[in-house]
Amino acid sequence: MYQYTDFDRAFIQARADQYRDQLTRWQAGELKEDEFRPLRLQNGWYVQRHAPMLRVAVPYGELSTAQVRVLAKIAREFDQPSPELLQEAQAKQDLLGAAPSRLTTGYAHFTTRQNVQFNWIPLDKSAEVMDLLAGVHMHGIQTSGNCIRNITSDELAGIAVDEIADPRPFGEILRQWSTLHPEFAFLPRKFKIAIAGAQEDRAAVAWHDVGLYVVHNAEGALGFKVLVGGGMGRTPVIGTVIREFLPWQEILNYLEAVVRVYNRWGRRDNIYKARIKILVKAEGQRYIDEVESEYRQILEQDGGQHTLTQAELDRVRASFVPPTLKLEHPSGEAKIAAMLQAAAEDDPEFGRWLKQNVAPHQNPALRAVTLSFKRLGQAPGDATADQLDVVAELADTFSAGEVRVTHDQNLLLPWVRFEQLPEVWRAAKALGLARSNVRLLTDMIACPGGDFCALANARSIPIAEMITERFQDMDELHDLGEIDLHISGCINSCGHHHSGHIGILGVDKDGKEWYQVSLGGADGSHLSGAAVAGKVVGPSFAATEVADVLEAILDVYRQERQAGETFVQTLRRAGHEPFKAAANSARQATARAEA
Ligand code: HEM
Ligand code: SF4
Repeated sequence: MYQYTDFDRAFIQARADQYRDQLTRWQAGELKEDEFRPLRLQNGWYVQRHAPMLRVAVPYGELSTAQVRVLAKIAREFDQPSPELLQEAQAKQDLLGAAPSRLTTGYAHFTTRQNVQFNWIPLDKSAEVMDLLAGVHMHGIQTSGNCIRNITSDELAGIAVDEIADPRPFGEILRQWSTLHPEFAFLPRKFKIAIAGAQEDRAAVAWHDVGLYVVHNAEGALGFKVLVGGGMGRTPVIGTVIREFLPWQEILNYLEAVVRVYNRWGRRDNIYKARIKILVKAEGQRYIDEVESEYRQILEQDGGQHTLTQAELDRVRASFVPPTLKLEHPSGEAKIAAMLQAAAEDDPEFGRWLKQNVAPHQNPALRAVTLSFKRLGQAPGDATADQLDVVAELADTFSAGEVRVTHDQNLLLPWVRFEQLPEVWRAAKALGLARSNVRLLTDMIACPGGDFCALANARSIPIAEMITERFQDMDELHDLGEIDLHISGCINSCGHHHSGHIGILGVDKDGKEWYQVSLGGADGSHLSGAAVAGKVVGPSFAATEVADVLEAILDVYRQERQAGETFVQTLRRAGHEPFKAAANSARQATARAEA
């Protein structure tokens, strides 16, 4: 994984020291509230519905076990409100309606963009937490504000069998360029970059402000397909391809032009129109022409100062150090495969886990194992302090001390020896982390919604919980097959509802929580085809109706599917109408039953 340089370490510690000073001055009344606010935000400290919320970056989703243990310590010792605050917050939640909220404390929440959030840390402990994080080279710099945010990538980067080139060194070059970039510290709005280096897109690249796919051109040279202006929110837009091929050497010069023109032309007068997607939509070719002209100027007049050399790429590549593993198998891989096959036939639960939670690896002696953080009683992406500690133990024992954060809010062990899969399975199962639901219906994405977020229109977590409760039968889940269910608590779309095969969006009508359902969206993977926004099925549903509506939609799939078809394939072939009709009649049936 990435080896931090002395510069990285010193920089992060200096930022933590600076923040401690800012906090102390605010506490002493030397900094006013509105002076301190931007300073804490620049370090990932928000204030949300009940308490401060800290967002910490996990570049490329990579965590060492030392880092995981620090996250566990923070969850255990700092993600703890006073009993009075917790009681007050719970009372607030109890007023919200039918679906109960169960506020919990002492955990970390993994997000879709390879960040980790804490919901309860008191601000007066924030400097202490920053020091703990800095001790393991972690921070919240640029995890908030109108700047270039944490650059995300494929959770299988560097190990995926379908990889064209490892995207992490390019991501790291972009991180170094965008961190504290003086020109881009105050953009019109937040700016998110994702980069994928494989055939399959596991990073929702087309939904980003800038999306980069590593590609080869016809001559075999390495470069990027560049997309600009993707984003969700109120107006879902898929990124526009503005370069089919850009040589990798020019990525910084080119992105400098992309972001500079946005910085110059982006709408600062209206927060709803400030994202780059609106500019690209409004200006179209004019924006692209301006970027190309700016790019030419950077190359010709400014001498292409950021053109990358092979030596620089090699330097950064060398910071991604693969673990040294002893990999000879005395019995040989074919024998291990046969042993696993026999074990899977003996125990279908193990077989399902192998199918859903285990991915192939560039090294045939290894596998990548997803630990499922989707289960009853826990919000999607939440990990308690104890769970984090056991994940660290698992990773130390079986995965060369490395863990990764996935786009779907799970954790992954990237370096598991093929023959150790039965042992990993038993250990993960004993810890409740081996549910074989990866990519299935209950492996859903959900934002914190109205349980924690001050911007929410409705809660997401109780809806996720009701659905998880309804779909506990693993036979049913496996029969339904791969389905992306995404839930957001408001139109800001943090839970990616637009890109869900099934999307659920919380809306507020007369102060009450309602849920809009959309169908047919896609992140843009090989299964679901190109990225696309789902279509709303009709007026919104009450919280208590959502699970029935989902059931009705899935019944249509069960009736309509042809052999081998996934949910989204049937939906595309059969059209939305039967699904829409079933969803709406489920609403009426529930309403009648309740009347
Ligand atoms: C409670 C804390 C959070 C707050 C206050 C918050 C706020 C926001 C806002 C205001 C936007 C829209 C920006 C815009 O379109 O101009 C946004 C976008 C986004 N958030 Fe969050 N968010 C929070 C937590 C999360 C979490 C936990 C996740 C992941 C699970 C997440 C993932 C995203 C993503 C991916 C987008 C981009 C959507 C797009 O492309 O438009 N956020 N967030
Ligand atoms: S989608 Fe809305 S409710 Fe959910 S975290 Fe984002 S801003 Fe909050």
